[in-house]
Amino acid sequence: MDRVMQGAAAPSSAPPPPPPYWLLAELTYRCPLHCAFCYNPLHYDAVRNELSTAEWVDVLRQARALGAVQLGFSGGEPLVRDDLEELVAEARRLGFYSNLITSGVGLTETRIAALKEAGLDHIQLSFQDSTRELNDFLSSTRTFELKRKVARLIKQYDYPMVMNCVLHRYNLPHVGKIIDMALELGAEYLELANTQYYGWAMKNRDQLMPTLQQVRDAERVVAQYRERIGARCKLLFVVPDYFEDRPKACMNGWGQVFLGVAPDGVALPCHNARDLPGLDLPNVRDASLAAIWRDSRAFNAYRGDDWMQEPCRSCDEKARDLGGCRCQAFMLAGDAAAADPVCAKSPHRHEVDRVIAFAARAGSAGSAGFTPPAAVEQPILFRTDA
Ligand code: FES
Repeated sequence: MDRVMQGAAAPSSAPPPPPPYWLLAELTYRCPLHCAFCYNPLHYDAVRNELSTAEWVDVLRQARALGAVQLGFSGGEPLVRDDLEELVAEARRLGFYSNLITSGVGLTETRIAALKEAGLDHIQLSFQDSTRELNDFLSSTRTFELKRKVARLIKQYDYPMVMNCVLHRYNLPHVGKIIDMALELGAEYLELANTQYYGWAMKNRDQLMPTLQQVRDAERVVAQYRERIGARCKLLFVVPDYFEDRPKACMNGWGQVFLGVAPDGVALPCHNARDLPGLDLPNVRDASLAAIWRDSRAFNAYRGDDWMQEPCRSCDEKARDLGGCRCQAFMLAGDAAAADPVCAKSPHRHEVDRVIAFAARAGSAGSAGFTPPAAVEQPILFRTDA
């Protein structure tokens, strides 16, 4: 079949981009959980035409030929796909380092044994909290005990125990207990990533946004644990962007490292690129991955710094933060090419400060953990089923 290039950019004299390092294969948006901070698109249920096994195999081969070496199987819940083992085996044949990013739901002993046999390198298991009550509330499922069983299976099958817990105002006060739970389950690595506000988390931002005091208290607890446990478990604490005064170099630079493929074959320069206007995102069903990566308008839109406006254009820090996050700029400033409003130099920083001030007025979540803050009238919204 002829491959037609979608959204092709005008020929440019710019040097070719480096090869993508990391392929994120979002196998499906289907998921048994309904997390209040899910980063999947709000209208994910409109995506029904998932790539077939053969199409995914082709994507993996093309990505490897382009130079990608790290492969994440993600979603949704990738275990919903019953061809996962076949894709893992192909990834192993191609020489990828493969990582399964999972809620644990569906990871039975039969499947973990098959995934091991197929050559899966790494499993990252998510928890929502250290308590059953809050874990189950935030995911709108009864999955806490099941996740603990899966954690034991992961150890039993000799995988490095890598856990992830998304933090927000409800569970930040539990951070010490979350670390205790991770240690009890034998975690060697725990990612404590504060919610970033995209997708469903953006919908629930007033509900989830912590106070500055909560973030600082949690940071202190993590520092104390680091000192106490040393190398036994590596603790990564990611501060919410809103509490920084300089933005992150999102995706390590647009079109530099990260190549995502959505369940329907749409190629993504970042997880949330579907929500940005005017990108004309290409699809692996219509174009080769090499053409998408090198030539498509979407992947070239924010490469380099030609697209930057002031204050980024003349900023002496632009090589470090690359202007920050395009999705955050669009959501908070209404312009994807604006400086990330998280930056203190952005003329839109007041939007971030307004949200932080609201969170401070709303107070902390209290010891019960999930009592909605009094100042927030709207109930928390859970990702709904397709
Ligand atoms: Fe899209 Fe940051 S999440 S550029």
